Amino acid sequence: MSIGIIGAGALGSNIARAFAKAGIPAVISNSRGPESLAGLVKELGPTVRAGTTEEAAKADIVVVAIRWVDVKRVLGGLPAWNGRIVVDATNPVEWIAPDSPDAKDPTNPLAAYGIKAVDLGGRHSSSLVREIVRDAHLVKALNHLDARALVEPEAAGGRRALFYSGDDAGAKTTVRSLLEKAGFAAVDLGALDVGGPLASLPFGPLSGAGFVKI
Ligand SMILES: NC(=O)c1ccc[n+]([C@@H]2O[C@H](COP(=O)([O-])OP(=O)(O)OC[C@H]3O[C@@H](n4cnc5c(N)ncnc54)[C@H](OP(=O)(O)O)[C@@H]3O)[C@@H](O)[C@H]2O)c1
Repeated sequence: MSIGIIGAGALGSNIARAFAKAGIPAVISNSRGPESLAGLVKELGPTVRAGTTEEAAKADIVVVAIRWVDVKRVLGGLPAWNGRIVVDATNPVEWIAPDSPDAKDPTNPLAAYGIKAVDLGGRHSSSLVREIVRDAHLVKALNHLDARALVEPEAAGGRRALFYSGDDAGAKTTVRSLLEKAGFAAVDLGALDVGGPLASLPFGPLSGAGFVKI
């Protein structure tokens, strides 16, 4: 199964690091083109290569690791998914400038982290992504922990638990195998409408929860 990673920032690069460590081949892209990822792919070794977003989006499994504000534009502009797997690793948060009024908003509990929650009108983010990638099998995963934790699948004498959810059993099995191959303990949270909001930052009850399977 080929793997593409769209987004090579804090999350995408650390997903790529986890895959590279486990010898899992992948193509990774950012908005500035493959040349700008030369340093990263040199660090990662031969299994991960840089490509365009269109190349990464052709893979059997496409991991989406871009900011929420870019999701609709980037995913909406890609060719048909034709039943391939999209792993939504995004969270509906917005980065705020340190000197902006948002940064001093006393009603924003996330201001200290430099982010604020996006108002989704009572929807959960995965249901919105599902509408954008209608002809894909969507699995929510790789989104609930600080990206730095992904580089170390082993923790405290066990394997770090990663949650996943989705509506297609086959796609979920495939993603589970991928997470396990990368060294994590994969935990099924059920359907997208159940698991998505449970593990989604910033307010999902399982978001940020670091469990380890001993
Ligand atoms: N950071 C974390 O700890 C963490 C943890 C869990 C989930 N998440 C979620 O992961 C997502 C990404 O967060 P982040 O912290 O990694 O953000 P980030 O560091 O700002 O990275 C965003 C990445 O998206 C890329 N991008 C933008 N437009 C693109 C396009 N058209 N094609 C390909 N790549 C494109 C950017 O490329 P350029 O640099 O070239 O513009 C950059 O590599 C967010 O939804 C966030 O909520 C983050």
